Amino acid sequence: MRMPFIAGNWKMHKTRQEAVELVSALKSLVAGVTGVEIAVAPPFTALHAVAEVVEGSNIALAAQNCFWESEGAYTGEVSPRMLQEIGCRYVIIGHSERRQYFGETNATVAKRLQAALAHGLRPICCVGETLEEREANQTFAVIETQINEGLQPVAPQQVTELVIAYEPVWAIGTGKTATPAQANEVHGFIRDLLRKRYGERAEEVRIQYGGSVKPENIAALMAESDIDGALVGGASLQADSFARIVQYDKER
Ligand code: 13P
Repeated sequence: MRMPFIAGNWKMHKTRQEAVELVSALKSLVAGVTGVEIAVAPPFTALHAVAEVVEGSNIALAAQNCFWESEGAYTGEVSPRMLQEIGCRYVIIGHSERRQYFGETNATVAKRLQAALAHGLRPICCVGETLEEREANQTFAVIETQINEGLQPVAPQQVTELVIAYEPVWAIGTGKTATPAQANEVHGFIRDLLRKRYGERAEEVRIQYGGSVKPENIAALMAESDIDGALVGGASLQADSFARIVQYDKER
C-alpha cells in the first residue's frame, strides 16, 4: 500500500514571518491527522524558521530545488547537504516553472536527483506536458522522455525514495484541473514506465497530481487508482484550504 502524500509548494510566497504564521496554523489544523503524509515547501529563506515549527509534528519539510554539488564556488546555489542539515526530508526537482524560466532540462534534473538521493533527501520529481504538446498528441512522448532521461541515474534500490509529481503545465495556476480520468491515464502510463525500468518496485512509488488542486476536487482525484497524492500550489497558501485538502476523505 502506498501512503498518500500531500505536499504544499509555496513557490515564491511568504516572508519568514508569514511562513511561520501559516505553518503554525496548519500544524494545529492537521494535528492528529494520520494515514496521510504531509509536507510543506517554503522558500529557502523561511526553511529554518518553518523547520523549528514543524519539528516533532506530522508535517515534513521540503525545499523547492537544490544544486547538484555539495559545496563549492557556485554563487547563489543551495546544496542538498545544506538542506538535509536544516531538516528537509524532501526536495522538489524539475518543477515546470524551473524548466520554463530557469533553463532546467531533463539532464539537469538527472544531476539534481542523483545529488539529492546521495544526501538522503527524497526528491519530488516533476513532469508534465504543455498545452501545445497535449494538443499535438505528444503527452505520452514528452512524459516518457522526461522520465527516462530524468531518472537515468536513479538505481533500482533508490527508486522507492522517489516521488513523481505529474503536473500538466496547462493546469498549473490556471484553475483548469485535469479531470481525474485524464490525470489517472497519465499516472498509469508513468507507473508502466517505472515498471519497465524497475519491476515490482514501481508499485511502491508515489505519483502525485499537481495543477489547480482544491478542496473541491481533491477527493475525486484521490479516488483514482494511480493518484497517490497531490502537489498543491495556490491552495496551500492558506492553512484552512490546505488542511481540507490533506483531509480529503472528509470532502467527499
Ligand atoms: P497550483 O495548485 O497553483 O495550480 O500549482 C500547482 C503547482 O505547480 C504545484 O507545484
